[in-house]
Amino acid sequence: MSILQPTLLTLEATARPLSYRENLIALLGGELDFHDADSSYASHNFHAFPAKFPPQLPRKFIAALTQPGEKVLDPMMGSGTTLLEARLAGRAAFGCDIDPLALMLTQVKLTAMEKRTVSDCHYHLATRAQAWISQNPDQVRQSLDQRWDAATRKFVDYWFAAETQLELMALLHEIEQITDPGLQAFFKLAFSATIITKSGGVSLAFDLAHTRPHRVKVVRSASGEILMGADVLATLSESQHRYHVKTLRSPLEEFNKRVQANLKGLTELHDLDAPYTLARGNAQALPLPAEAIDLIVTSPPYASNAIDYMRAHKFSLVWLGHPINHLGEKRKTYIGGENISDFAFVNLPPHAAQIVDEIRRLDAPKGAAIHRYYSEMTHALREMYRVLKPGKAALVVVGTSVMRGIDTQTQHCLAEIGQTLGFEVPAIGVRRLDRDRRMMPAGFKVDRQSQIQQRMHEEYVIGLYKPDITAKETR
Ligand SMILES: C[S@@+](CC[C@H](N)C(=O)[O-])C[C@H]1O[C@@H](n2cnc3c(N)ncnc32)[C@H](O)[C@@H]1O
Repeated sequence: MSILQPTLLTLEATARPLSYRENLIALLGGELDFHDADSSYASHNFHAFPAKFPPQLPRKFIAALTQPGEKVLDPMMGSGTTLLEARLAGRAAFGCDIDPLALMLTQVKLTAMEKRTVSDCHYHLATRAQAWISQNPDQVRQSLDQRWDAATRKFVDYWFAAETQLELMALLHEIEQITDPGLQAFFKLAFSATIITKSGGVSLAFDLAHTRPHRVKVVRSASGEILMGADVLATLSESQHRYHVKTLRSPLEEFNKRVQANLKGLTELHDLDAPYTLARGNAQALPLPAEAIDLIVTSPPYASNAIDYMRAHKFSLVWLGHPINHLGEKRKTYIGGENISDFAFVNLPPHAAQIVDEIRRLDAPKGAAIHRYYSEMTHALREMYRVLKPGKAALVVVGTSVMRGIDTQTQHCLAEIGQTLGFEVPAIGVRRLDRDRRMMPAGFKVDRQSQIQQRMHEEYVIGLYKPDITAKETR
């Protein structure tokens, strides 16, 4: 089994049209960085989501490798970038994700709504929420008391100031009165987006979009009054303020701003008539028949939870009816998790097995975690192979990870696993990540000389081609 180096392939000028496979190679050798591209059009920015890929990436492959009406799938759709691009291009979109927020987010992003209707509904709900707080704060507090089990309540009390909880509760109460499911979901998403932002939104968390959340040490009101941590404030240097001091923002105001911003994105969703199908489910057992899909563009989680989705998503999901303990259980089923009790490992092909062994020798739990990741990805790739039509491709965007100083070589290992399942790997494209936007684990120090860190600033687009054994493909 040969392992492809991530070379940039170019094709010699040829008189005949490129075959599908050659086209795939050419696309993977072309622009994949999209650093200066605008990614804020349509509904792409309705809600923050970690490790989104730029919309230009799926758009490029959808435009070149499919025809209008054909079926495009992202089995780990996250914020639905691939699905939205598929719909904008008039392709039928299929998506699946295990994360409840990903599902709600994608659903809202794909739904065209009347701006006027949304705007009117927003006006009424914001007015009523404001009135409820000013006229009957005790009733709002009572609603808060009845909303959660003890563990969830503890979580909410730790991460949200009392005055923030009051406004969030009043807003949510009004949102839950909306009878139209599409409208209700639109506002629930805007509600969630006021909590999950890079700066931790209206919560007491310092950072929610990228790293492990930290609770700020000092909280002050918009008027500058210190509400929490007055004693700590005196011990902090000027530069530490940035990470430990937070000015509380009003959820009502933040919600209003977010709704206004999302309303603008709605404009471009009109006239979309391509169908779409979303499923809450596991990419390792897709709810799709065999040979149904024309193109897959997806980006799985990194190996070993480098980005832990639930870590941030639980901050709004607890408000939206998910008890904290259920979310903790759910987190274990995400690809890239570290829990290995009762896990059924897969026998890996030689290169992937060697990487796993090297890591296991230095750190047994980390070795087991990477073995789990490659096992789960074996199932996910097998499913992609099954649902793809012959003669079509899956583009899998991955980053590599470093465990105990060893590069997991995710792109090579997944390419190798793909080959054992029947895929051909005509090329692996390289995309350079914008250093400023790349998310790193908390405390990560940048060493520009380090080869490994260099690779962590790259992502790989693995081109997996399902051969059509019945057709003679021109290579
Ligand atoms: C890198 S994100 C995808 C981001 C997406 N490309 C975008 O642009 O928003 C990976 C996604 O895989 C999902 N995921 C993790 N385990 C999964 C599983 N077993 N089945 C389906 N989705 C899963 C996560 O919830 C997350 O949304």
